[in-house]
Amino acid sequence: MNKSLKPIRIPNEWDRRGLPGWTYHSQALFELERSEVLLTHWQIAGHVSDVPSPGDWLTFDFLDERALVVRGRDGQVRAFHNLCRHRGARLADGASGHCNSAMVCPFHGWVYNLDGTLRGAARPDSFGDMDRSQFGLKPVEMEIWHGFIFLRFLPGPQPAVAKLLEPFDPDFTAYCAGDLLPAGDFGKWEFEPLPVNWKSVRDVDNEGYHVAMAHPALQDLYGRSYRDMVYRGGITQSVGEFGDQPGRLWSVRHYLKMTPDRDWLPERLRRSWTYFGIFPNSVIAFTPDGAQYYHDIPLSLDQTVVGGRLYRRANETRELRAARYLAYRIDRETSYEDQQLSIWSNESMKSSAFEDFHLSDLEFGVRAHHDVLRRLLPVMSLNDAPAEEDLANINAHLRSASANAD
Ligand code: FES
Ligand SMILES: [Fe+2]
Repeated sequence: MNKSLKPIRIPNEWDRRGLPGWTYHSQALFELERSEVLLTHWQIAGHVSDVPSPGDWLTFDFLDERALVVRGRDGQVRAFHNLCRHRGARLADGASGHCNSAMVCPFHGWVYNLDGTLRGAARPDSFGDMDRSQFGLKPVEMEIWHGFIFLRFLPGPQPAVAKLLEPFDPDFTAYCAGDLLPAGDFGKWEFEPLPVNWKSVRDVDNEGYHVAMAHPALQDLYGRSYRDMVYRGGITQSVGEFGDQPGRLWSVRHYLKMTPDRDWLPERLRRSWTYFGIFPNSVIAFTPDGAQYYHDIPLSLDQTVVGGRLYRRANETRELRAARYLAYRIDRETSYEDQQLSIWSNESMKSSAFEDFHLSDLEFGVRAHHDVLRRLLPVMSLNDAPAEEDLANINAHLRSASANAD
């Protein structure tokens, strides 16, 4: 069997330290993470149901890049850089919208077809002999997998999404992920920026060891059943299962009480909350009642926005909608709790007393995420911070040394 389809077995002995503290506070390292990790790996921009009709569009801004996803007249969803080819204005302004048969740049009025080709410049005679075919919108690499729209701004080492997430294909099929619909009233969400490095958000999200202490509602819901499975390439699956016991907390008690049969799901998923972690910074999560994706978007070295979108099943009943709403409440509480944890973790690394993490087997997901980062940027293996101005060179040197050793 293909090894990547099986979770990694946690070794008996492993280095339980996390990344050194300096890696969370180095501007030079953040620049490398930007260009060699975040922009070169798959990001989620939405779901095809967010752009159901020709002319529907959504945007995705990420680390100075900006993408525009639009459904063409032929029904095809395409992704472009959201940059007019005249002088770079934002062709689509806002998070989402609709245009009729063309996209018109708000600066000087160049007009683009929905397939990205340039229909025409305003005052075309003022451009001499201009070849319109050379001025279409620039495409962004895109893959649609079970309805989710993945974008990659620069070429990178991850395989196609379908390959990367192959172990989860049966679950995505069972959840009918391709048929999900936007949750509407509380669909797209975004928290206030957090004063933390993006990796501190990931570190908290990449383990379930803290659930018992830090998340009373999740503990009430699925308690010790929660477990993380780590796959190659920093891909994870985390599952919590709830039983028949009445919850102690209001939202959990009502969620369990009104929870419908969900007989459209295989037995193993009917009482599970499942989170699929996708290296480097995204998660797609399913409850039996609905789904969401969320990701951390770094704004700078020490500012990160967590946001995402919520989805519902097609043909949702009132009962299912109520269950989904309660699940959403539980999840929101959990997110606020995680935010505080990521702030504490991030600021601790500036303290003279901070040494290293000492990770439990239950936090192996944190280690696995760090391992992938260290492979991509070997400078992160150094215990002591290199001089900022030397960091990129040292990283290049370490990388070529490890390539030669392979
Ligand atoms: S920048 Fe778009 S028309 Fe000028
Ligand atoms: Fe958490």
